[in-house]
Amino acid sequence: MSRKSALINVMEGAVRKAARGLLRDFGEVENLQVSKKGPADFVSIADHKSERTLREELSRARPKFGFRLEEGGDIEPEGGRSIWVVDPLDGTTNFLHGIPYFSISVAVEQDGTLIAGVVYNPVVDELFWAERGIGTFVNYRRLRVSSRNRLPDSVIATGIPHLEQSSEQPFMAELDAMMPAVAGIRGCGAASLDLAYVAAGRFDGFWDRGLATWDMAAGIVLVREAGGMIADLDGSSRMMDSGNILASNDPLHLPLQKLLRTAARNAAGST
Ligand code: IPD
Ligand code: CA
Ligand code: CA
Repeated sequence: MSRKSALINVMEGAVRKAARGLLRDFGEVENLQVSKKGPADFVSIADHKSERTLREELSRARPKFGFRLEEGGDIEPEGGRSIWVVDPLDGTTNFLHGIPYFSISVAVEQDGTLIAGVVYNPVVDELFWAERGIGTFVNYRRLRVSSRNRLPDSVIATGIPHLEQSSEQPFMAELDAMMPAVAGIRGCGAASLDLAYVAAGRFDGFWDRGLATWDMAAGIVLVREAGGMIADLDGSSRMMDSGNILASNDPLHLPLQKLLRTAARNAAGST
């Protein structure tokens, strides 16, 4: 058990307040007014309300911090070095379908380095939090990534492309390679929670392409502080720029990277 720092307390207070509104709306999801941003990118009233609450709470506590907000864009820090990276509702499609796998995700980036992250699933009241050098926790329990070291024993999560997402993605080739190699593949629909589950050792790995910074930022801190590995699918550390990410424990990282790279290369070669 670890005492939460002042920074984590601020983040927890903000996400819990925003979550109260989300939970109320989740309870009457069929009555929500929903507007469309794109065919597969629904933005609900609940989403905007959550972002407004987070922005108010976080800027009240840390007035000099800037923001990277999914809905509201970038706000430069006022002379400070830190920004909040905020996804006010990750797993929007699940939320709108009444599936209780969604979260609020908030990270702190200081001078370009991710130093703290909180991912909160209000339905099951799981607050995943991590701070650089301190560790990763769910509520008050310390988390470690899994210790499985064989792909045939592993459950790997991914984001399944849909509707207008690029058909050039080598996803089918990756899936084809992954299926016979592992114990299970899950596509659950909220990248921040998928990363939190890797940190918790529930998933042994996770890969996805085309993510936004707010989908990944908090989850990256969670996985790193739980002893896991994070990289771009090409092995570099450019995942925050490319949006392509592989997260896992240490022993599975290279085997997964190799499997996915070979699949992507074969897919590119056959077109
Ligand atoms: C989405 C989820 C999903 C991922 C998508 C994201 P949203 O975020 O994280 O798991 O595969 O790429 O856009 O739209 O629910 O905030
Ligand atoms: Ca998201
Ligand atoms: Ca979102």
